[in-house]
Amino acid sequence: MAGWTAALLGAAAAGVYMVLFLGTTVHAELQYGYYDSLGCAGVEDRVRTLVQRSFVADATASAAMLRLAFHDCQVGPGGCDASIMIDEDAGEMASGNNFGIKRLDIINSVKADMEDNCPNTVSCADIIAMAGRDAVAFNGGPDIQIPLGRKDADSSNAGEADSKLPPATSSIDRVFNVFGPFGMTPEEIVAILGAHSIGVGHCKNIQDRLQSNSPTAPNSLVFRTQLMAACAVNVFDIAVVNNDATQFTFDNQYFQDIQNGRGLFTVDHLLSTDPRTAPIVNTYASNEGAFFASFASAYVKLTSRAVTGNRGSVRSTCQL
Ligand code: HEM
Repeated sequence: MAGWTAALLGAAAAGVYMVLFLGTTVHAELQYGYYDSLGCAGVEDRVRTLVQRSFVADATASAAMLRLAFHDCQVGPGGCDASIMIDEDAGEMASGNNFGIKRLDIINSVKADMEDNCPNTVSCADIIAMAGRDAVAFNGGPDIQIPLGRKDADSSNAGEADSKLPPATSSIDRVFNVFGPFGMTPEEIVAILGAHSIGVGHCKNIQDRLQSNSPTAPNSLVFRTQLMAACAVNVFDIAVVNNDATQFTFDNQYFQDIQNGRGLFTVDHLLSTDPRTAPIVNTYASNEGAFFASFASAYVKLTSRAVTGNRGSVRSTCQL
């Protein structure tokens, strides 16, 4: 713990971290500063230090952590409950909808560090939620304060991931059905899709849009030609394309791109054309601050569907 505290003080002295306090309503049993109250001060800073190290070593890892947080919170008996890390062969990870989810090893190594310094206390679910949050700030997005205290599940079901994780071709109705239950407003729902400001998508998720008769083909012919060129050779489904023009920066470029017919997935394209969401897209395309504020409150809601208290447990190993 001494090492953690020193790192915390160093960061504070350097003025490195700006914390955004939110007035958002959250799950009653999650708490800000939860681990401080358990005598494990410095957990959040230690997690941030460790995940940032892995983001520096692998530029694709931060986007992977942000998507992991969504896929964990959307599926599982407790929502954000690290169920995605149980039984890679037959659990949620076996679902085709989790294609592309990667770097679970980062969560495992942070967990090992937690067990060394503050045993049996820090849940895998909290580590995932923190890693996704830290990915946003690492890439230039808002620093978001999230409440902690999630517990881990003990089961994982591939079929549930099949039915609950929205595919690239999702309609806007489906988007509202997915995020409405998190308590998000339309502004927050559009903002949370702005997570596609970082990272990549596999060509296999956009092949349908590249057919000449596709009703959701990109409006920009130049963009469509670029995608066709990038996806022309796709041996073993490994070819990827950027989610937006600035895949390593969390900014409002995504909204400018989808405004201009350069949305990567069908769902991105529809977000900019549906009358319910297009005006919000236009706001975020011209006002990054408005996007950041809505994204921050949406992320708190996304990660607040959780099991707490005596229900669930703190697993000693994340990847069972
Ligand atoms: C209806 C909602 C959504 C749909 C249909 C959707 C769909 C997708 C698809 C198909 C991919 C590409 C996966 C691949 O080919 O490897 C992707 C990537 C990604 N998604 Fe989403 N997504 C949605 C919402 C979200 C949310 C809420 C977040 C986070 C808060 C998120 C974060 C990401 C990130 C960061 C990537 C890039 C991952 C990487 O580069 O490794 N997505 N999404």
